[in-house]
Amino acid sequence: MNTPKRYLITSALPYANGPKHIGHLAGAYLPADIYVRYLRAQKKDVVYVCGSDEHGAAITIQAMKENSTPLAIVDKYHAMLKSNMADLGISFDIYHRTSSPIHHETAQEFFTALNDKGELEIKETEQYYDEDAKTFLADRYIIGTCPVCANENAYGDQCEKCGTSLSPEQLLNPRSTLSGNAPVKKATTHWYLPLNKHEDFLRKWILEDHAADWKANVVGQCKGWIEAGLQPRAVTRDLDWGVAVPGAPGKVLYVWFDAPIGYISATKQWALDNDKDWKPYWEDKDTKLVHFIGKDNIVFHCIIFPVMLKLHGNILPDNVPSNEFMNLEGDKMSTSRGWSIEMDDYINDFVKKENGGDMMVDALRYYLTAIAPETKDSEFTWKGFQDALNSELVAVFGNFVNRTFVLMHKLCKGKVPPLHVELLDNTDKQLLEEIQLTKIKIQNSIESYKFRDALSEVIDLARKGNKYMQEKEPWIVAKQTGDDGQPTAAAQQKIDNCLHICLQLTANLAIYINPFLPFTAKKMIYMMKVVDKMLDWENAGKSKLLSTGYSLRAPELLFRKLEDAEITAQIEKLKTKSSTLKKATSMETTTDTNNQS
Ligand code: 2FM
Ligand code: ZN
Repeated sequence: MNTPKRYLITSALPYANGPKHIGHLAGAYLPADIYVRYLRAQKKDVVYVCGSDEHGAAITIQAMKENSTPLAIVDKYHAMLKSNMADLGISFDIYHRTSSPIHHETAQEFFTALNDKGELEIKETEQYYDEDAKTFLADRYIIGTCPVCANENAYGDQCEKCGTSLSPEQLLNPRSTLSGNAPVKKATTHWYLPLNKHEDFLRKWILEDHAADWKANVVGQCKGWIEAGLQPRAVTRDLDWGVAVPGAPGKVLYVWFDAPIGYISATKQWALDNDKDWKPYWEDKDTKLVHFIGKDNIVFHCIIFPVMLKLHGNILPDNVPSNEFMNLEGDKMSTSRGWSIEMDDYINDFVKKENGGDMMVDALRYYLTAIAPETKDSEFTWKGFQDALNSELVAVFGNFVNRTFVLMHKLCKGKVPPLHVELLDNTDKQLLEEIQLTKIKIQNSIESYKFRDALSEVIDLARKGNKYMQEKEPWIVAKQTGDDGQPTAAAQQKIDNCLHICLQLTANLAIYINPFLPFTAKKMIYMMKVVDKMLDWENAGKSKLLSTGYSLRAPELLFRKLEDAEITAQIEKLKTKSSTLKKATSMETTTDTNNQS
């Protein structure tokens, strides 16, 4: 699209049915946050919305498991998710919730508008019913064997192992998750979204218009569904927890109908809170809408929701940068199997510890971005985390900044030394040029959702800084002293130039690292005694960010090393958690989805 007037960025609304793990963080939240922070640094009009997905069987089934109520469950986990995300620096403009009245009204209005336009079909069909539990079985209430990948625990709406979107009728050997019994068929009436009528639109919009700019994994999945032929999709359910279907007692909207509308209701609430107009964000074609999601959400964000948006008269997403999954220590990450690192646990074990804090938030953000599953599944290992932290953040980035500050205090009286332009040599000029070039490289990568590449450009630049300093050796030059024991004038000029350039590079590194590691950038601007505004993207690439003669603070530790004992303890903890859960679940008839749940 041409230069957008404004941006609306969304991250998938997590189900408020339990803690979420760092695979979720890496998939849909961290990349969106990096993108948003980059846009904000460019002074763009950007709103970043998210919130808890509080409806559907994911919630009611959890309430049964915890012997609680759906309301108590969503209250508990909404609070946890909201605070976890804030602790990890995910900078939503609003973290909303779909149980809010404004969301219920918005979702009902949306449904009514489509229904009044005749865009929904009403059909009476036979659906699975559990005679013991006296309830219809939809979505997660019914499990069976996936006809595509033979996963025996596929849900009635989706196989989370292979990602196929299903209807309960497609499951082989269906059984109720309530009683474990085989269900019977019973007649019921529901509203359907006839996706089959929109195949031509989807084919052109995705497979032609966006074939080049969307990720290959996203286009590939969409192509598969479209070519298989799209079916009408029920958008209501016989349940008592959810958004009530107007005029149809006992029925609620299908959670996947109301959840994405949550992006709109969150925007409305944000606008109310900030005295803004929400409509242009959803109606003006100059808005760039980007949905950040994990791969199990592709069908909903690329096929179903866009059809709903089109029928309702809203704008369509410009991109849906979906990530693949992040595995953990050789196995799929899964909260239900205890093979995961929950955000909440990481925060308690590292961030809220005496030697932790924001530094350990940025350490996690760094590693998760460096191994982001952008094109294929990736793997988190504690050893990998330790290596990334110790040999990249500490040894390269932190070391460069620390050396620069220490030497500036030691050899330049704690002030930004002057630059003697006439003495600049090729090594100096090359580094100054690299500072500028890096800006373009990072921009290109972030704007094409390649956050791994963008981050590695930042570290490469710090690496070049270290190499430059090693070549210039100002601590050796300082030994060329005169009678007074001080460096000679010529030696001091060399030292000045080296440290002046290193300090300007440090200022640039703060700008470049800011979208990725915001707490680190903040600490750096504190050390440089400059205001937040210095982090504006328009300053990137400049070599006069710090004025000559300006006195700077003492260096602070940006990162700390991760010790062997810490990672051993985490691996032990993981094994214990998973074997405890395995024993507990082998006694139950619950499902194990073996996915990113
Ligand atoms: O897969 C999930 O966790 C869903 N709760 C995502 C919803 S995204 C959006 F549509 F709200
Ligand atoms: Zn499957």
